[in-house]
Amino acid sequence: MKKLSLLSFLLVFSMLLAACGTSNQNNGSDEGASEEKKTLRVVTDAAYAPFEYMDGDKIVGFDVDFTKAVAKEAGYEVDIVHVGWDPVFVELEDRIADFAVSAITINDERKESYDFSHPYFLSTNKILVPEGSDIKSAADLKDKKVAVQNGTTGQEAIESVLGANNPNIKKFENTVLAIMELKGGGADAVVADNTVVEEYAKNNPNDKFVVVEDTEAFASEYYGLMFPKDSELKAEFDKAINAIYENGTYAKIYKEWFGSEPDVEDLKAQQ
Ligand code: ARG
Repeated sequence: MKKLSLLSFLLVFSMLLAACGTSNQNNGSDEGASEEKKTLRVVTDAAYAPFEYMDGDKIVGFDVDFTKAVAKEAGYEVDIVHVGWDPVFVELEDRIADFAVSAITINDERKESYDFSHPYFLSTNKILVPEGSDIKSAADLKDKKVAVQNGTTGQEAIESVLGANNPNIKKFENTVLAIMELKGGGADAVVADNTVVEEYAKNNPNDKFVVVEDTEAFASEYYGLMFPKDSELKAEFDKAINAIYENGTYAKIYKEWFGSEPDVEDLKAQQ
């Protein structure tokens, strides 16, 4: 008898605790009701440091922190999944993923099939070469073997110099493999986003690589979150991006990753 009442006491007590837990959660949301935050499937190619890369079995990077902050502002949870570059586009086309973050450049061709958020990062393609290389500009890449990640603006950039279908352009499934090709001597250069090649050269001094820029040959680009066409999330995330531009969260994350102040005014001017 005593045992039973202790048991029922514990049962009631734990139910009370559970109830407290729920009401605490509800206090935080302005919706009032017991509605839980929706978890969105976000896809990426996590082989693109410092934007998205694997740290053990965790995906980390500027894009990850940025996406989490924007999603939080918009009232969503996110599950960021590494699927690889080509599958990112397939998942959005098939509407399997809710959106993608992968240092994805906003351009007209992609805009035909997908919707983009407001721009969140300024980028340009640059050339990674071994120290002492005679490559000093994009034009110097003529008759050189150039490794790129397939289906990126880096591929487009080099095609604009060497011509599409030039057999000297070596295309890889991800940028790490393209850099490995350069390291192994199978290529004379890699063309990829400036931040990625600059970070690589800096963090791998033993490879003795340097970065060459050619602002005339390679234009400025902006990254955006990429949504399936007509996704209702776009408007919500655009609003949230502006909110984290205003409240300083974006600048804080940017500084954590890059050690400098972002040009938020320029990003806003692109909207
Ligand atoms: N910004 C370039 C593009 O959109 C390259 C992006 C590659 N991103 C990645 N996670 N591999 O084409």
